[in-house]
Amino acid sequence: MAGLSPAASEVNLKNILVTGGAGFIGSNFVRYLLEVEPNIHIFNLDALTYAGSLENLKDLPDSKRHTFIQGDICDRTLVEDLLRRHQIDTVIHFAAESHVDRSILGPAPFIQTNVVGTFALLDAASQVWLREGNASAEGPRFHHISTDEVYGSLGPGDPPFSEVTPYAPNSPYAATKAASDQLVRAYGHTYGLPFTLTNCSNNYGPYQFPEKLIPLMILNALQGKPLPVYGDGMQVRDWLYVVDHCEAVHLVLRKGRLGETYNIGGNNQPANLEIVQEICAILDELVPYSAHRPHAKLVQMVADRPGHDRRYGMDINKIQTELGWKPRHDTANGLRDTVKWYLAHRAWIETILSRREYNQWVDQNYGERGVKE
Ligand code: NAD
Ligand code: TYD
Repeated sequence: MAGLSPAASEVNLKNILVTGGAGFIGSNFVRYLLEVEPNIHIFNLDALTYAGSLENLKDLPDSKRHTFIQGDICDRTLVEDLLRRHQIDTVIHFAAESHVDRSILGPAPFIQTNVVGTFALLDAASQVWLREGNASAEGPRFHHISTDEVYGSLGPGDPPFSEVTPYAPNSPYAATKAASDQLVRAYGHTYGLPFTLTNCSNNYGPYQFPEKLIPLMILNALQGKPLPVYGDGMQVRDWLYVVDHCEAVHLVLRKGRLGETYNIGGNNQPANLEIVQEICAILDELVPYSAHRPHAKLVQMVADRPGHDRRYGMDINKIQTELGWKPRHDTANGLRDTVKWYLAHRAWIETILSRREYNQWVDQNYGERGVKE
């Protein structure tokens, strides 16, 4: 790759631009990084779409080392200005439209943020760091967060996805993430933009917006609403506890080789229906006086997602052998911690449930599937 140094054993982490840091994984990562890196300052650029919230950034450790900027990653002038003014040495790019079902019902914002927005960030970084030479002596870094969904869907006997599995995205969401990954590689190869890339599996844990499977099921069950399982419920995801993911990204920033991709997975692959039943069992135990017990009776099999990927699974051998990372949580302890977090954050839940946009989304997505209250 043009101009890329092969290894980054001692990296400069000082002024960091995190995009999408008011969303689920981004806010967990901001919290994690402030804890483990005492000398950094985080500039957090987030447009605060429906998925982002300042509620996710309350009670940050050492919050004076965190500056929030509300803005769009597509705003090239704003991004360049942030890079120059704050002498950003590391960009960690989480911002995205992230929900497959929304991408099926309306792909346009996915093209805009995931493709055009990633291009704007890459080009701004190239302008400031490479063309203007406005970069730290140790060298800057662009870290891109992506997904296992770029690899497509596994058949029953297929080996898990590795870093060399060919891209075969199936949903509009996955296609836009694949496009953004390819742009990152192209900027590395053509212009020598120093980058690392991680593709992770399905995350779950605190602060996840309740449009995704696990928080949706917890919130619906608490309200005695149907638990809509798509198709036969036998689809498989490789569940990764969000804090484990944060730890892996931090390690890649510290020790990952420039120009490399690392797969991050949870080594946990129960079928969707098992996940939902496990959540119900945990709620039966933790909310013993609920009128909705046994919560499993709320499960409702509903119309499948169009083009639904059957199975994802990650081969994490590369990050494990090169950087010594492996997940600390399995779904047994991770789901329990997650349910406890939602039970302890009723005000956070209420804020989302009271929003018109959220209720419109639920009606649009589940009304069409014939979910009955
Ligand atoms: P999220 O939807 O919870 O948060 C996305 C954040 O990006 C929000 O705060 C939103 O306001 C912000 N954002 C959206 N468009 C923006 C724009 N144009 N400019 C600035 N900010 C904008 O997403 P997440 O689940 O936290 O995912 C974060 C990243 O991880 C994404 O890149 C996603 O593709 C990737 N990923 C997520 C998962 C998962 O299971 N959640 C799995 C694999 C990869
Ligand atoms: P989701 O959390 O949307 O993540 P992704 O589509 O990125 O994997 O969905 C996880 C799995 O759960 C997926 O197979 C679709 C399924 N699912 C349901 O069965 N019901 C639901 O209401 C949702 C949101 C998802």
